[in-house]
Amino acid sequence: MRKKKESKHRILILGASGFLGGAIYKELCSYFRTFGTYNISNKSLEKNKHFFQYNIEEDDIYEILDIVKPTIIVSALRGDFAAQFIAHKHLAEYVFSTKIKILFLSSANVFDAYSKYPSYELDKTYSNSIYGHFKIKIENMLLRLPKKQVAILRLPMVFGAQSPRVLEINQNIKEKIPVEVFPNLIMNATNDSKLTQQIHYIINRNKTGIFHLGSTDLVHHDDFIKEIIKSLELKNAIYKQVFTTNDDRYLAVIPKYNLLPKNLQLLSQEILTELEI
Ligand SMILES: NC(=O)c1ccc[n+]([C@@H]2O[C@H](COP(=O)([O-])OP(=O)(O)OC[C@H]3O[C@@H](n4cnc5c(N)ncnc54)[C@H](OP(=O)(O)O)[C@@H]3O)[C@@H](O)[C@H]2O)c1
Repeated sequence: MRKKKESKHRILILGASGFLGGAIYKELCSYFRTFGTYNISNKSLEKNKHFFQYNIEEDDIYEILDIVKPTIIVSALRGDFAAQFIAHKHLAEYVFSTKIKILFLSSANVFDAYSKYPSYELDKTYSNSIYGHFKIKIENMLLRLPKKQVAILRLPMVFGAQSPRVLEINQNIKEKIPVEVFPNLIMNATNDSKLTQQIHYIINRNKTGIFHLGSTDLVHHDDFIKEIIKSLELKNAIYKQVFTTNDDRYLAVIPKYNLLPKNLQLLSQEILTELEI
């Protein structure tokens, strides 16, 4: 096992202190030499030699790249959009010149200007939000790299017992604050445990291209949030219905062309079942 761990990839996760970056780090660290970044000072991470403090607005990513010499970079960052764009420009140059690979966590919002249908991998991206525009800009920059060096992972909303979304629902109910639901929103979803397995597979099998890593079925946002609350056995939730349009609106990234094996695909029910445990 040890030999295997040392011979395969060196993985650098940008944003490894976050919800998804942290889950990806946990999934990969026993199989690969895995390193991560965090932004906000943290005593336990400061002592960990596999973690580097990195502020996208102040620090040069080259310094960390020079130390880690990754063969794979996973970008799971948040932060100022302009600074993120510059950092990804530097990452793209590094990926190109060293012939390594980058996995970029993108979002269903790259399609948020289309409301009438769910979106598939080969659809043209189109957004009318600042966040969606920003993700499209980085996707397009990375898609100019050689195809074998890039994986764009488009995610719908990610749920899971420790996800900020589920923690907020819990907190709101405890404090009698209304939980927002969007009755017109039709979406797909995923959770951190399936996502990290999918990423592990993409790395192991050296897969590239655009992936839609969401459930294969669609749900209404309001029904799904209510189902989550039922699964968590939380009582006395108050709901605030938010109508952003008169008609139903889709925000869904459905896998169709770049499919993962059956056991790595998911139905939204699995997200609920996992929350029950
Ligand atoms: N969660 C979802 O439902 C979802 C859905 C679609 C796409 N995504 C994408 O997935 C990625 C990760 O999302 P997440 O939910 O895991 O986010 P998160 O929990 O907020 O984690 C963000 C990470 O970025 C770091 N970060 C924040 N500001 C920074 C800065 N100025 N400089 C350097 N690092 C900074 C954070 O460090 P600290 O911990 O030190 O603050 C943390 O490690 C994002 O790109 C997001 O767009 C997420």
